[in-house]
Amino acid sequence: MFSKAYSAVIHGIDGLIVSVEADVSDGLPLFDMVGLLNSEVKEARERVRIALKNSGYRLPAKRITVNLSPADIRKEGTAFDLPVAIAILTAFGYIHDENLHNTLIIGELSLNGNINKVNGVLPLVYAAKQEGFLRCIVPKDNADEGAVVKGIKTYGVSTIKEAVDLLCDFEAHKPTTVDLDMLFENKTGNELVDFSDVNGQAAVKRAIEIAVSGMHNILMIGPPGSGKTMLATRIPTIMPELSFDESMEISKIYSIAGLLDSRALITRRPFRSPHHSITSTALVGGGAIPKPGEISLAHHGVLFLDELPEFNKNTIELLRQPLEEKAVTISRLNATFRYPAGFMLVASMNPCSCGYYPDRNKCNCSLPMVKRYLGKISKPLLDRFDICIEAMQINYKELENRKIEESSADMRSRIYRARQIQVERYKGQDIWFNCQLTSRKIKKYCSLGAKEQSLLEQAFIKMNLTARAYHRILKVARTIADLDSSERITSKHISEAICYRSIDAKYWGQM
Ligand SMILES: Nc1ncnc2c1ncn2[C@@H]1O[C@H](COP(=O)(O)OP(=O)(O)OP(=O)(O)O)[C@@H](O)[C@H]1O
Ligand SMILES: [Mg+2]
Ligand SMILES: [Zn+2]
Repeated sequence: MFSKAYSAVIHGIDGLIVSVEADVSDGLPLFDMVGLLNSEVKEARERVRIALKNSGYRLPAKRITVNLSPADIRKEGTAFDLPVAIAILTAFGYIHDENLHNTLIIGELSLNGNINKVNGVLPLVYAAKQEGFLRCIVPKDNADEGAVVKGIKTYGVSTIKEAVDLLCDFEAHKPTTVDLDMLFENKTGNELVDFSDVNGQAAVKRAIEIAVSGMHNILMIGPPGSGKTMLATRIPTIMPELSFDESMEISKIYSIAGLLDSRALITRRPFRSPHHSITSTALVGGGAIPKPGEISLAHHGVLFLDELPEFNKNTIELLRQPLEEKAVTISRLNATFRYPAGFMLVASMNPCSCGYYPDRNKCNCSLPMVKRYLGKISKPLLDRFDICIEAMQINYKELENRKIEESSADMRSRIYRARQIQVERYKGQDIWFNCQLTSRKIKKYCSLGAKEQSLLEQAFIKMNLTARAYHRILKVARTIADLDSSERITSKHISEAICYRSIDAKYWGQM
């Protein structure tokens, strides 16, 4: 007897359909699995054999061969256990072969026949829908995650027996449903922090507002205790809401990383702040069993690197390529794939190891020491910050000031308007924010009048700017104009954008 079940495997952040064929024939009792399997899938053989026995299925002593195809895709993970068990049971006649048609099956087995949660259910179910499957059988704990995908029925099961019952009679069971509207309603949580907690620092708050409006990378530099960390951790309170498509894309990444927990969908823009001891693999992704790194977990959101020079230099240099391409390419022995990494980079740093340079009353660092410290951030990486801003220490008077500071809600409403303008402008173009403008699109959307052009030209020559810096100034100027509800980019907008590029010259200029 021969049977064929369907399952899927993760490739990058997408699912690829895999067929699981089982053949039962006379001959020496043997159980063989073939089809470019990694070690976990090879071990499936033992798990399946014991789980079937412990679920009460007495299989006759026959020769069983299981083949996973297509043969050229590496099969990884434990999610093939259940489809392998089902294909075998079907080959032995427990289930009609046609009941397996149009049905995707995923799940890991325990030795007692229970079905365990697996990673990546959301992209796998999504792939099944794209391929025209009608239903999916997934571990019960992953059912909500699968049910987020509309246009395909998702059933959650917790034992092999339940899966067999379901496959024998779909009509007698109800698919899982989730209320997407309700999931989205909870997207603005009750924040414990607010920008109104921060006294003064108007210039930094303004720079952050611009950065968030256009999702521009921002670097804050200043002495200890000036509030850099405090300001950065309040960024989530002003981030624009996620669209459904953005949410789906992020949720796929979290699903693969096994970070969806009890949530079926990520409905808030991510804010990731890894510690400076992070490894390269954890930051950019990869590993023996490939996983998305922090830069992909921050997709459509913020990656905050506090105390930037404390990170391993080689590690942060790896950010350069993804910052340009908004994706990261992972190469492995027999596969190459891409994870999205369209994050906004927020970083903070002190200007020297004591933290007080250039205040010579407090800083005793020698110039070579300062240079060495600042040199931990390479010029090309520095170039990728659209906005560089100084956070000055606030004085006693400002700290004492009881004046009510502007709240996150006020900032958010301005950011919201600037974002709406961008959404309208880039409709149907697969971009959402000014930071995503390519050089061709910059020509189209950031055209300047003669006066503005000469202003930028002067700055270009005087500041010895790179082409990349030039483009970044234009993108930031576009965002400043959007915050001003101005279609035209004026000299005022250009000047402010240039300003955010000149602060790094103060520190790195002489190097
Ligand atoms: N502008 C401010 N308004 C109110 N409190 C502030 C302000 N700036 C700093 N503080 C207080 O000082 C503390 C330290 O600030 P924070 O940790 O953000 O400084 P930092 O710039 O990150 O310093 P470091 O360079 O040492 O990391 C804050 O937790 C807060 O209590
Ligand atoms: Mg800090
Ligand atoms: Zn110093």
